[in-house]
Amino acid sequence: MARPVLRTALCDMLGIEYPVILAGMGPVAGGITGPVATAKLVAAVSNAGGLGVIGGAGFSPERLREEINTVRSMTDKPFGVDLLLPSNFMGGAAAGGEMPQDPRELIPAETYAGVRKLVEDLGIAWEKAPDTPRPQRPRGAGMSDAQMEVVIEEKVAVFASGLGSPAQWMDRLKANGTKVLSLVGNVKNAKRVAATGVDIVVAQGTEAGGHTGRVATLALVPQAIDAVSPTPVVAAGGIADGRGLAAALAMGAVGAWCGTAFLVADEANQPELQKQRILAATDEDTRVTRLYSGKTMRNITNPLIEAWEASGIQALPMGLQGLLIQDLVHSVRKAGREELLMNAAGQVSGLLTGTRPAAEILHDIVNGAADIIARQLPETVEAVPGD
Ligand SMILES: Cc1cc2nc3c(=O)[nH]c(=O)nc-3n(C[C@H](O)[C@H](O)[C@H](O)COP(=O)(O)O)c2cc1C
Repeated sequence: MARPVLRTALCDMLGIEYPVILAGMGPVAGGITGPVATAKLVAAVSNAGGLGVIGGAGFSPERLREEINTVRSMTDKPFGVDLLLPSNFMGGAAAGGEMPQDPRELIPAETYAGVRKLVEDLGIAWEKAPDTPRPQRPRGAGMSDAQMEVVIEEKVAVFASGLGSPAQWMDRLKANGTKVLSLVGNVKNAKRVAATGVDIVVAQGTEAGGHTGRVATLALVPQAIDAVSPTPVVAAGGIADGRGLAAALAMGAVGAWCGTAFLVADEANQPELQKQRILAATDEDTRVTRLYSGKTMRNITNPLIEAWEASGIQALPMGLQGLLIQDLVHSVRKAGREELLMNAAGQVSGLLTGTRPAAEILHDIVNGAADIIARQLPETVEAVPGD
């Protein structure tokens, strides 16, 4: 396949060949394999001309540093790091200094009992996860603070905040020459992050896999562009082929941030079962749920998600919800029912047909868009002159 040519302002800003960014995707499937976007996938996308981004959220600061250096050993091209900077981790208890020695004390007994019943109703024996000694390192806000120190010390080319605002870090990131991207799901947050001086706003529509808001990409992107101009906007959510990228560029976005498309890359770090479930999914097989993280997250649906949503159990804040479902994840894994674990993916899953190398996925997206743009619009469309 001929190497496509497609450049936008994003390419010049980030020093990349194509206006496509690999979403910095974190862990799925109860963290069995760690984050999805690790060095192999990140380097593959950067080497192919896009921008690879490490899904750093689940990494300890030490592991994050290692991963950055592994990518550096695999490519001399620019790449980024994505972290979550949630403002309400553990319901604010972590920030307020009122965290009990064992944060699990903050979990209401009836919520725990409710979760246990959901699992048992699916014929799975309940088993407590072994109490593994936790390393003495800060969690939540403290954790992302320590991860951010690594991003700054390592002077990464691009930093992306997946949740929350990078405001408190902007001066130090800018001093390093790091380009800062911020993901948002509505116009209010687009304005908020643009006001902090981020270089690029990533407007992510509800069809996206992973944490997601309520506004669809086609509605959000033009509104975000109007709200934050002249800050450039990258479109995310539902973009997995040339038609999606061409549409994003037609709306005025400078590029696309793609997650689901790369979930089935050979280099994507997630269990084969999760990849196969994405390939088997249709456009209607995802559901937004707070079950796995406490925040609204789009997943390939499964009977546990359906039961959780039907139960009306109130999710706990991010951080605590993860602790709430620790025993659930353990029991599900013990029973060999990995299809009930987190399998974040977007509505565009139905478009994916097979696993293949990340470079091929990237080049197909870019080639498809370049072709549409060269032909202007599909031949079925005729321009009708106005009066
Ligand atoms: C498996 C998975 C994990 C994700 N993890 C993160 C994450 O850790 N940080 C983040 O900013 N976004 C994360 N996202 C969201 C992506 O960054 C991105 O916005 C989304 O995938 C774009 O929509 P698409 O899936 O339709 O391409 C994740 C998405 C998926 C599918």
